[in-house]
Amino acid sequence: MTRCLVCAAPTRPFLSFGPMPLANGFLREDEFAAEEFHPLEAALCASCAMPQLVHPVPRERMFNERYPFFTASSSAMAAHFARFAADVRRRWLSAADPLVVEIGSNDGTLLRHFAVSGTRHVGVEPSANVAAVALAAGVRCTQRFFDEDTASDIAAAHGRADAILAANCFCHVADLNALARSLDILLARDGVVVFEDPYAGDILARCAYDQIYDEHVYYFSATAVARWLAPHGFELIDVARQEVHGGSMRYALARTGAHPVGDSVAALLAEERSRGLDGIAPFLDLARAVSRSREALVALLREAKSGGKRVAGYGATSKSTTLLNYCGITPELVEFISDTTPLKQGKFSPGMHIPVRPHGDFAARPPDYALLFAWNHAAEILAKERAFREAGGRWIVYVPEVKVLD
Ligand code: TMP
Ligand code: ZN
Repeated sequence: MTRCLVCAAPTRPFLSFGPMPLANGFLREDEFAAEEFHPLEAALCASCAMPQLVHPVPRERMFNERYPFFTASSSAMAAHFARFAADVRRRWLSAADPLVVEIGSNDGTLLRHFAVSGTRHVGVEPSANVAAVALAAGVRCTQRFFDEDTASDIAAAHGRADAILAANCFCHVADLNALARSLDILLARDGVVVFEDPYAGDILARCAYDQIYDEHVYYFSATAVARWLAPHGFELIDVARQEVHGGSMRYALARTGAHPVGDSVAALLAEERSRGLDGIAPFLDLARAVSRSREALVALLREAKSGGKRVAGYGATSKSTTLLNYCGITPELVEFISDTTPLKQGKFSPGMHIPVRPHGDFAARPPDYALLFAWNHAAEILAKERAFREAGGRWIVYVPEVKVLD
């Protein structure tokens, strides 16, 4: 029996993908032989209802100087973070000369909005290469993991934070209790923590099983977040849905009693209760849907192949690593993956070793079908690639269901 990483109660596994390579482990041919694999299995805690991985991968294996994900690679995400910054400023930054800290500040896309207006800010980012981009853009950041020592050092140097922000970061942190203690050290008495991550409710509703990969240790719901925070003296004060990353939730939390609790919190908790998100049933439904989805996608790709059609992937996302390896999609079925990130180009996808090529290759010799791995950026990409469709190219999507777009 495995125990919950948050509250140590027994957990119930609901999905097992078997051994998986690192989701962001894009690699060269001479690295194939030494590629590492870790078991990927998801479970639900019977007590705190936190959906989680059973075997979290050590953080240093994933977040290092080779981390190939840059927030600014999507223009829609850049616009989203401009709105995020404006929202934080309007709703939560009433202190004079406030301090804003972002955990997992990546290339500084969010903090830039505070830097340009002269707001005191600090980013915390363990991956050296992305942190360097933030520094070059004039964003103050410190290259390390966020833990109790980091929190104490920032508080000692700059004072306590009025707002602590995080986007697509907290779900990556295996030790959530240490994270809560670190927030407690750094947050001002009336401060607010605002974080957003992919939402369990959307993963279930959309069968977005490719959100499950090594970096995502948790699949938060408001129910699970509230139960995690309560013993640490924090409570949810606001929640807001976000469409980014395939369906996310933004949570605002504060010290218990420090701020009024918005109506959105009770409403979402009630909705989750009615959907049964604190029980195993919807997660077992997901497991069944996942296996049907694999059958449909592999059948579609085999049919394209036998019809002599060329298929290329679009966006070498971390999510695609789960999909490709679980479905066993080799370069036989998907010829190459187009991606705009220089660090991924010329390398191969983890596990299945599909070549990653610059977008120029896609544009120069468009495939018959483009398999949209970056489905969370669908609106941006379909608008940008109108010419592909006009020239007869077709999109294959698999979330919420496998189909060819007409
Ligand atoms: P994400 O789904 O984790 O945000 O990763 C998106 C990946 O897709 C990233 O490697 C950049 C790539 N990408 C493209 O190649 N073209 C695009 O138009 C967009 C939006 C993303
Ligand atoms: Zn638990």
